[in-house]
Amino acid sequence: MSGLFDRLSDQNLARTMDRRSFIKTGALAGVAASVPSHIMKAAPAVLRRTDDRTARIAFIGTGLRGRNHLNLILRRDDTEVVAICDIDPDALAKARKMIAAAGRPTPRIFGDDDWAFLKMLEMEEIDGVIIATPWLWHTRMAVAAMKAGKYAGVEVSAANTLDECWDLVNTSEATGKPCMIMENVCYRRDIMAVLNMVRQGVFGELLHMECGYQHDLREVKFNNGTQPYGGGVEFGEKAFSEAKWRTWHSVHRNVDVYPTHGAGPVATMLGINRGNRFVSLTSTATKVRGLHKYIVDQAGEDHPNAKVRFKLGDIITSVIRTQNGETITVQHDTNSPRPYSLGFWVQGTEGLWMDVNDSIYVQGKSPKHRWEDVAPYLEQYDHPLWIKYAANAEGAGHGGMDFFVDHAFVEAVKREEPTPLDAYDAAAWSAIAPLSERSIAAGSAPQAFPDFTRGLWMKRTPVFALGDEY
Ligand SMILES: NC(=O)c1ccc[n+]([C@@H]2O[C@H](COP(=O)([O-])OP(=O)(O)OC[C@H]3O[C@@H](n4cnc5c(N)ncnc54)[C@H](O)[C@@H]3O)[C@@H](O)[C@H]2O)c1
Repeated sequence: MSGLFDRLSDQNLARTMDRRSFIKTGALAGVAASVPSHIMKAAPAVLRRTDDRTARIAFIGTGLRGRNHLNLILRRDDTEVVAICDIDPDALAKARKMIAAAGRPTPRIFGDDDWAFLKMLEMEEIDGVIIATPWLWHTRMAVAAMKAGKYAGVEVSAANTLDECWDLVNTSEATGKPCMIMENVCYRRDIMAVLNMVRQGVFGELLHMECGYQHDLREVKFNNGTQPYGGGVEFGEKAFSEAKWRTWHSVHRNVDVYPTHGAGPVATMLGINRGNRFVSLTSTATKVRGLHKYIVDQAGEDHPNAKVRFKLGDIITSVIRTQNGETITVQHDTNSPRPYSLGFWVQGTEGLWMDVNDSIYVQGKSPKHRWEDVAPYLEQYDHPLWIKYAANAEGAGHGGMDFFVDHAFVEAVKREEPTPLDAYDAAAWSAIAPLSERSIAAGSAPQAFPDFTRGLWMKRTPVFALGDEY
């Protein structure tokens, strides 16, 4: 197993030394490609190509989320925005305006049709592609980007079906190009401090995690066609932004359709795909009420959308079992009135943390049987990345965490190193969706996770946020 793993790593490394790097670094590239990866880690910077400090980034999807990423990429002085692609002229115009306002050269523009991104990917001068499009496009675009020899940075969830999960893994392995799932919540400040606590053994041995996506999305799933949130009960073609495409998943599928904001962070804490793995899952859905009720409450029984029969259960609860004997509860709850929460809970043999009430209990430290305020712990265990980059993250979306996910992507692209979240993570986390759909349809029957690493999880070791670089 060890030999196989090393050979795979070395092959991947050799493949990432693509044509561009060969031309740029000349003979050195040839040397580098033949040096085993463990030696490359210790090699002089010039061999690892850290001499090239610019990442040439292209975008597929310049809607609301794509422009968040664009803003962060434009704030850096180690990036070029070389191309943008969107099928909506208005989204393209807004992105162009941002690029001009940042004093950057005009990028090449693509968007004549749904597949224009393929033309864009032919450009040699692209290193990495950030994909922020509707879900059904994610895997198609990420696979095409990797096949074109680019790093793929794909929004969440990365895949919709198990076949798509395998496509991401197989393509990344075959091309040697990383596919990073751009899961920003992995970089939330409290989450990273808790990750630090987990690694330092504060909670003892981990037993149980809870997480989810508990977000009243009724005003995201319906709007009036001109604004992103609310103001009407339209979805599909008559709607704007996410209501155009996201709501269809609630019509057609009974599934935890958006599992990675919760599952990603707990996966990094549990070492999923790196010494551990998701083994099986059961999912159960409540009845379907919230979206129909919202339409009727807002627009009355006579509105045409009041006739739509939604399929998505209002609250879906999945329980995952891991190889190392932990359990994880993942909830999807987007159709009901409620404050936003990702409902994190991290519990081990020595204590637990819960984000809903910002509380912690650590045996021998906390008053017996009483919650403590977590704030002093978060300060004490603040992650080195946050300590170093808090000022850079200021003003970035979602409390600053968006800075870190783009930072990691750009730094990996610049160095031609693996991304800290990869195709195996994209596959394992995104697989929760299709597996939950199967489980619900089969009366909550357990569903086995494919081992997307084909056994390499036994050998792979954690890499996510080990230091203060990215
Ligand atoms: N990580 C987060 O916190 C976060 C937050 C918001 C959205 N997202 C994710 O980002 C993605 C995009 O969401 P959004 O809110 O920007 O949606 P959006 O509808 O505002 O933007 C999507 C864009 O993709 C474009 N598009 C659609 N098909 C295309 C194609 N074939 N080629 C090129 N462009 C195409 C659309 O014209 C649109 O401009 C989704 O996957 C969503 O789940 C993640």
